[in-house]
Amino acid sequence: MPDLCIEPMREEDLDDVLAIEKASFPNPWSRHAFLYELRENRVAALWVARPPVPGAPPPVLGYLCLWVVADEVHVTNLAVHPAHRCQGIGRHLLGELLRRYRGRGAVRAALEVRPSNAEARQLYEGFGFQAVGVRKGYYFDTGEDALVMEADLTRLAALEGP
Ligand SMILES: CC(C)(COP(=O)(O)OP(=O)(O)OC[C@H]1O[C@@H](n2cnc3c(N)ncnc32)[C@H](O)[C@@H]1OP(=O)(O)O)[C@@H](O)C(=O)NCCC(=O)NCCS
Repeated sequence: MPDLCIEPMREEDLDDVLAIEKASFPNPWSRHAFLYELRENRVAALWVARPPVPGAPPPVLGYLCLWVVADEVHVTNLAVHPAHRCQGIGRHLLGELLRRYRGRGAVRAALEVRPSNAEARQLYEGFGFQAVGVRKGYYFDTGEDALVMEADLTRLAALEGP
């Protein structure tokens, strides 16, 4: 498991975050979209992962954004810097945050994913997410449907500690 700090995203992180976002998605969130989530959206929580170096904050390696609505966590964004993928950072971010929100009373997690995004689907399936439906034409760039996936956090063995 990588040694990482998972901390709330700050506005000062946005240059790092936007670079990852642009490298990760055909239709990246804009700075304005992140600022709206950070400043205005009262159900939003945005988290970053960085190496635990003392002193000035080191660069962001990945981030996960979510909404908390009643007892459900909805993952709205997740990306890892392309140079740092396949090192367990995505799994660590998702697992740690699902664990934290389960500790605060969340019982279910949901998200949308492109059916063509095999890496992300494998990551989610590893945490027990299952496809529960389809949102037709959800991705306006390609017209691709979104797969809706859900996980029952109360029964998620992948969240148990060693
Ligand atoms: C999806 C993403 C966040 C995964 O992050 P990551 O740090 O590279 O993933 P991890 O190293 O933690 O891998 C965890 C699991 O994800 C799956 N996975 C990750 N990369 C994979 C790849 N290239 N091929 C197949 N499976 C992969 C595997 O199940 C892996 O478990 P394993 O190592 O036991 O095989 C990353 O690929 C990314 O940022 N992609 C672009 C943005 C994106 O698609 N976000 C999701 C939107 S829904």
